[in-house]
Amino acid sequence: MENNVILIGSGAREHAIALALKKSGANIISILDKKNPGIIRLSSKVIFKQSLDTDFSWIKNVKADLAVIGPEKPLSLGYADTLETYGIPVVGPYKKPAQIETSKIFARKLMEQYNIPGNPIFFVCENENEVRHALKELNFEAAIKPDGLTGGKGVKITGDHFQDIEQAVDYAMQLIKKDGAVIIEQKLKGTEFTAQAFTDGREIYIMPLVKDYKRAYDNDQGPNTGSMGAISFPDQQLPYISNETLEKTIDIMKKAVQAVKRETGEPYKGIIYGQFMQTINGPFLIEFNARFGDPEAMNVLSLLKTPFIEVAKQITNKTLKKPSFENKATFCLYVVPEGYPENPVKNQPIMIDHEKISQIKNVTLFYGSVNQQDNQILTTSSRTLAILTTAPTLLEARNTAYEAARYIHGKIRFRKDIGKEFL
Ligand code: AMP
Ligand code: GLY
Repeated sequence: MENNVILIGSGAREHAIALALKKSGANIISILDKKNPGIIRLSSKVIFKQSLDTDFSWIKNVKADLAVIGPEKPLSLGYADTLETYGIPVVGPYKKPAQIETSKIFARKLMEQYNIPGNPIFFVCENENEVRHALKELNFEAAIKPDGLTGGKGVKITGDHFQDIEQAVDYAMQLIKKDGAVIIEQKLKGTEFTAQAFTDGREIYIMPLVKDYKRAYDNDQGPNTGSMGAISFPDQQLPYISNETLEKTIDIMKKAVQAVKRETGEPYKGIIYGQFMQTINGPFLIEFNARFGDPEAMNVLSLLKTPFIEVAKQITNKTLKKPSFENKATFCLYVVPEGYPENPVKNQPIMIDHEKISQIKNVTLFYGSVNQQDNQILTTSSRTLAILTTAPTLLEARNTAYEAARYIHGKIRFRKDIGKEFL
């Protein structure tokens, strides 16, 4: 078999998927909505689309054995369903099972209905009375969330984003106007962590745990972003997560995969991502994603020892076996445009001293949202590139990532404190 693989998506996560596919011998046909130079370099064929929409006319021009879907948007549009009607098996859930990410109300109700542990108290509200009731019941310690996809930017939290009840009610009412309903849930307190797993719908295998840094500025200040960095440890666990918490986390994810199948009648296959809060009462689910995290994909795929193409085939054949990962630390540092995320400076050239960076051990650069123009790489309004390092210890991985960052120039910035609390 030739291993021709369609890869959908054009960010740093997809660049990491492309590298893992390429390393395991795949020919990549990439479907891009941005000209990611890293993915283009690894691809045998590139199909450029203005957006990842439901125009599938490109399928007629490709012969593929398999497809991997990176981002949530194509999952929400039913890419997995459509590609399979063309005979191409897909790593990524169908549209209905993907609701575990695309509808927060679906995910919370599923957990409630199937008695899955780790569900915070939540209310689905459709009018002002219900909103006021929910906020009162939660003692104004609440997270207000839109139902659908928002790129990580729609969640607002009392204390952080709202100083009084009226501001919270106003925001909830805006969301109700837009979507017809809003979800108001208990504000969870603790430390967040990411658990990702491969599943073929029957077996589910957890990947190394990752800590993601979402806030824009050092010391977790400023607004939430897509992420500013992420770390993992050589034992594939996190120092603040006990074995008991890990077991509970795996149990929640397993039960969710089973529940989705029972609820929608369709198997959940691909990657399942759980964002958790480690609280004094154990792990609570913040949200599920139906895909790899960005940047968490870079952390775990850099450690994956089993060829990714094998894992992908096992997922689509329903023969998934436990994949193995290296016992190394990983460190991901996102370089973003100055002013990101509020007022990012776009279309600015970035200069990367590849020669100097290649002299540093175990560093990989993954391009995020950039444009290429006349041999120049330009920033966009989103994250520019990720520096990913692996090493025997977190300290070494961290040092080499920050060393590499010195050789990237332009109107860019990055957080200086990623992983600092563990040194
Ligand atoms: P989400 O888009 O659901 O990942 O939410 C974005 C961020 O909001 C999360 O990473 C958390 O930091 C925060 N968040 C979401 N839900 C809650 C919650 N129930 N309690 C506390 N923080 C939350
Ligand atoms: N790192 C968070 C996400 O991918 O949603």
